[in-house]
Amino acid sequence: MMSSSAFTRSMAPGRAVRRAEIAALAAYVPPRLLTNADLEKMVDTTDEWILQRTGIRERHVVDPGVATSDLAKEAALIAIERAGIAADEIDLIIVATTTPDTIFPCTACVLQHKIGATRAWGFDLLAACSGFTYALSTAAQMIAVGTHRTALVVGADVMSSIIDYTDRATCVIFGDGAGAVILRAAEGPGPGIVDFAHEIDGSGGPALRMPAGGSAMPASHETVDKRLHYVKQDGQAVFKFAVRKTEEICRRILAQNGLTAADVDLFVSHQANRRIIQSAADKIGLAPEKVVINIERFGNTTAATIPIALTDAASEGRLKEGDTVLLSAVGAGFTVGSVLIKWSGKAGW
Ligand code: UT7
Repeated sequence: MMSSSAFTRSMAPGRAVRRAEIAALAAYVPPRLLTNADLEKMVDTTDEWILQRTGIRERHVVDPGVATSDLAKEAALIAIERAGIAADEIDLIIVATTTPDTIFPCTACVLQHKIGATRAWGFDLLAACSGFTYALSTAAQMIAVGTHRTALVVGADVMSSIIDYTDRATCVIFGDGAGAVILRAAEGPGPGIVDFAHEIDGSGGPALRMPAGGSAMPASHETVDKRLHYVKQDGQAVFKFAVRKTEEICRRILAQNGLTAADVDLFVSHQANRRIIQSAADKIGLAPEKVVINIERFGNTTAATIPIALTDAASEGRLKEGDTVLLSAVGAGFTVGSVLIKWSGKAGW
């Protein structure tokens, strides 16, 4: 039995709250594969090390000239078609990304133009690996308060554009991809986004970051020479934080809705490392068959992992009307996100 959610709690008494229902899901990855065997030729690593430590066999990467908005466009167009809507019915676009096409204009503007969503406004949301959970809950709130009816929520990243392919500690982990969801307003009781619980902890900033290229350290010959426009990560610090916080945030969102792990039908976590997902799921008490893991084929695509994993799960018949779906993510910042969903049959295959 679900009790009052963040949506109902935040509304003025007596005001009707609309449901935000997932009407369609889609994913897109670029065709080019970067396998562990390819990486063995680039840095001092082995297929065995990568598979054992991360669970990744291969990841997809873009060809030169392909940007985040290009991947986002492919996923968005499939989602629009599956939802059976016209692009100009969309009134809100949120693009969660850490690798925007350019710092400005934002990728939501580029995407809006590429897909012809002429009635939409929108923005980019930067929360690294938690970006999709933040974007989904933000769009659901906009629908709940009654100001928007149809939202396009995208998680997309071209991580290969900020990865140092001479650094074996990071280059084996990341991949490129995009996932998209169409959220629609619905009246009365039924499936939809139920609740969210998010946190940030800025003290974790140094553990995972791209040092240069922002206002703190603008691009210069020196920043390029020192390879400061690439991802720098203290892997073990992030690993420990991710396991602890995934458990904490999942327990919190379940408790605030009067649920336990036994009530969850499917757990779709950010795909950063197979060991993080399995260890957190064990601690929460989620049976292995309820846990979606597809990192083997895609690596860590940052804001795109959750919508890609959801799309995978739906296409494999693992999601049915009324299922309780738990999303969670931990990312740079640190950012921590979770979303609880009652699954809608409309988003099925
Ligand atoms: O989505 C954003 C959030 N990011 C994450 O959640 C990432 C969290 N962290 C991780 O997934 C793991 O910490 C990594 C996969 C990054 C690293 O795995 P680890 O088990 O924590 O390895 P480690 O950093 O403790 O390194 C162990 C050893 C080291 O060698 P020594 O010092 O023991 O001789 C590393 O130099 O493994 C070495 N190593 C590698 N060896 C072969 C590090 N990277 C590689 C590599 N191939 N690619």
